[in-house]
Amino acid sequence: MCGIVGYIGQRPAEPLLLEGLRRLEYRGYDSAGMSTLADGQLRTIKRVGKINEGLAPALAATPLPGSTGICHTRWATHGPPTDANAHPHFDQSGRLALVHNGVIENYAALKQRLAKLGHTFRSDTDSEVLAQLVGHYYDQLPAGNGDERLVNAVRSALGEVTGTYGIAVLHRDHPQLMVGARRGSPLVLGVGKGENFLASDVNAIVAHTRDVVYLNDFDVAAITRDNFQIHSLTSGAVSRQISHVEWSADAAEKGEFAHFMLKEIHEQPQAVLNALRGRINHEESTSRFGGLNMTASQLREVDRVIFCACGTAWHAALVGEYLFEELARVPAEVEYASEFRYRNPPVDKGTLVFVISQSGETADTLAALRESRRKGHKTLAIVNVVGSTIAREADGGVYMHAGPEVGVAATKSYVSQLTVLALLALYMGRIRHLSAIQGQNAIRELEAIPGKIQQLLKQNDPIRRIAEKYQHAKDFLFLGRQFNYPIALEGALKLKEISYIHAEGYPSAEMKHGPIALVSPDVPSVFICPRDAVYEKTFSNIEEIKARKGPIIAIATEGDTHIASKADDVIYVPPTADFFYPLLTVVPLQLLAYHIAVLRGCDVDKPRNLAKSVTVE
Ligand code: G6P
Repeated sequence: MCGIVGYIGQRPAEPLLLEGLRRLEYRGYDSAGMSTLADGQLRTIKRVGKINEGLAPALAATPLPGSTGICHTRWATHGPPTDANAHPHFDQSGRLALVHNGVIENYAALKQRLAKLGHTFRSDTDSEVLAQLVGHYYDQLPAGNGDERLVNAVRSALGEVTGTYGIAVLHRDHPQLMVGARRGSPLVLGVGKGENFLASDVNAIVAHTRDVVYLNDFDVAAITRDNFQIHSLTSGAVSRQISHVEWSADAAEKGEFAHFMLKEIHEQPQAVLNALRGRINHEESTSRFGGLNMTASQLREVDRVIFCACGTAWHAALVGEYLFEELARVPAEVEYASEFRYRNPPVDKGTLVFVISQSGETADTLAALRESRRKGHKTLAIVNVVGSTIAREADGGVYMHAGPEVGVAATKSYVSQLTVLALLALYMGRIRHLSAIQGQNAIRELEAIPGKIQQLLKQNDPIRRIAEKYQHAKDFLFLGRQFNYPIALEGALKLKEISYIHAEGYPSAEMKHGPIALVSPDVPSVFICPRDAVYEKTFSNIEEIKARKGPIIAIATEGDTHIASKADDVIYVPPTADFFYPLLTVVPLQLLAYHIAVLRGCDVDKPRNLAKSVTVE
């Protein structure tokens, strides 16, 4: 988490950095800061709070001059959010400024060592220790080597660090140089004309350049206005390819919508279309993929699939488990990436591991991928962000093509993941037992999903009215069975993360083993109860809650009048195949969570304590 942006060029740095930082605020927003270099001086402003509450007004009052600068938006790991703990941090001399995303695990030992040498610390952060360590090496190195002195100081310091980092460094005595380095935290170098950039995410710089270099772990980049050189910490100079970003800055604008989350909910028909584009093979009633890097006969050998992910992507994996079992008859398991990375499950030759991640940078998912590959398992990735670390390190995979997702609560990336999983399950099924007719039926249903989501979005107003009715509840239950059990989990997660209402997702029948104790007239239960194979069973669970006077909000299939006799409120979704209902039933739950959060005055796009890209364990 945390976002960093750096600029070295000819234009005024401050507005450009601030704009970039705003685009990274999804990565953390408890404090922010900026340093610029001009006339041989480093000037800095750091403020606690979101950018618009702290840093931006401070900069408006005291603009920072110069055409070189670095900035940071923070998600606290070491030390509470305060002005002092905000980045940039400095070396002992105050001539060197550094911004850092990641965690320096051995910071305590390094801090002790530096303290003995006379260093004094102004913050509680691990990042300041790194800044002071670079300064320490800088002071040890002979003057007269020009800019190499700073680059070498950074390299020496990083050689001692354990943990993760994406950093940008400036030094008062090297006004033509910005140094960047990464290990475990994302960092891209933006290549412009007479100007260059560093950023945690291309979002921050895409308005200025679409030519980027995705730095690799252990890369140290020496960047000037007109040039850059990359050295590996472990070897010499390295050359890295310049990639071209396909989407433009407009894709990451809110447009007519009040929040990114609402915009992204409305982009879901397009997200499904993008995930399907070019991947349907009608003639053979199957799907096709360009980047799996596995042949049909290799995939036929697969006798077990493990999905690893975090957060909403983990909920997508749960739907994936049902889809793979239903359509492909391949046993599938789902693991939290954070558990998988430290477990030692016996995984045999026929096991295929999939990691799923919107950002492609989630630290635990990345570690699960590395662990899986270390053990020799073929590991494929379902990722949205092109060029992200997971995308680059996987043996192969599928891009989601959902476009940039800015709202911290994942929405369009979720339906996109479900679409890709459906296509993969179809493919795996068609190279096994699934008949051409079954394949055709699945394709027909899948291709109808974007239109059905579009139809569903028209219910925005009625859903807002339901939100008004229940906005003051303190607890919610979300209940669903089989394919819709993961949707119950996702519905509960969406509500709790953006509205701060306590919510639990459960398999409908399992609620009798605990959550039913919570049921009262003040605790609404949301039942995901489409007309599928388990409809009658779920309906009995509705009766059980109703008998205890719990209010019921039902997500049901159009035309189901029966359910209206029991539920207090009903939101209808169009009919589809049982296994594709999750692609529809999740949409009203996203809207319900959104409206409740807005009514409660919550900051929907930046919920407290959360960050979109969790790059620490
Ligand atoms: C964070 C975000 C979630 C996201 C999860 C996994 O918790 O707030 O929205 O689902 O990370 O992120 P990933 O980028 O790996 O899908």
